[in-house]
Amino acid sequence: MLSYRHAFHAGNFADVFKHVVLMQLIHALRRKDKPFCLLDTHAGAGRYDLESALACKNREYVDGIGRLWDQAGLGTELSEYLNLIRALNPDGRLRWYPGSPRIARALLRSGDRLVLTELHPGDHPRLKAEFAGDRQVAVHHADGHAVLKSFLPPPERRGLVFLDPAFELRGEFDRLVEAVRVIHRRWAGGIIAIWYPILDRTPSLRFQRELRELEIPAILCAELGLYPYDGPPGLHGCGMIVVNPPWRLDETLNRLLPELLRSLGAGERGQTRLEWLAPAP
Ligand SMILES: C[S@@+](CC[C@H](N)C(=O)[O-])C[C@H]1O[C@@H](n2cnc3c(N)ncnc32)[C@H](O)[C@@H]1O
Repeated sequence: MLSYRHAFHAGNFADVFKHVVLMQLIHALRRKDKPFCLLDTHAGAGRYDLESALACKNREYVDGIGRLWDQAGLGTELSEYLNLIRALNPDGRLRWYPGSPRIARALLRSGDRLVLTELHPGDHPRLKAEFAGDRQVAVHHADGHAVLKSFLPPPERRGLVFLDPAFELRGEFDRLVEAVRVIHRRWAGGIIAIWYPILDRTPSLRFQRELRELEIPAILCAELGLYPYDGPPGLHGCGMIVVNPPWRLDETLNRLLPELLRSLGAGERGQTRLEWLAPAP
């Protein structure tokens, strides 16, 4: 059953958080000359039309990228993020929002590679068309969890696995814990980034406990809560787990998360959290 369509949610506050953090990870990989590989296991459609019927249904982007769009005076990281979105909307009107593959592609250097898997029969062809003829990007119609092993370790031996599932199936957190175990076994030095939603608080906290129990070193957890966690049902916040975070990512996020919260207009009700679930060796 694949009913989730990211087009409903593109550009919402969770996407902004996710893509800002993703950009910091890619920037860190760019600090060394050696090429890197980024595997995006749940890639989506690559780019979203915010004027489409799906995006207009709940207009989630209004409380996400819509909040940042006209802001001036943002810090370096948020300005870079906004510039990337603006580059996709050259006439100055916010219409197109890039998915993680488009964001990653914008930051690749000539020797870097992007490997994308997407399972949805509607979104995969869009993704394929988005990168047609691009020799640095491979697009696969596949179950990201099932094919993960076959891509690891990448020949570059440097890079990132980004897992951003739809959380529409039961057991997604369990699959993610297993994915971390598999990735780490095959590629202990690779960066792993996992986005997760905070709806009911309990499953994400259990997920973190189970990650701790893997006894893998260097696991950082960053969270952005836009709405009180005990409020009415809905997406209250979200988080990103980063295994093997680049040097000083924690310092950058410590500064960036509160700025992001302010820029999203969370006011007093918002919260951020940054915690090492397992210390770096
Ligand atoms: C949250 S969206 C991804 C958004 C994208 N990473 C971005 O930031 O723009 C999750 C995507 O995973 C896809 N999907 C669901 N199950 C999958 C699976 N087993 N393997 C690969 N893709 C899957 C969905 O169709 C959906 O497009």
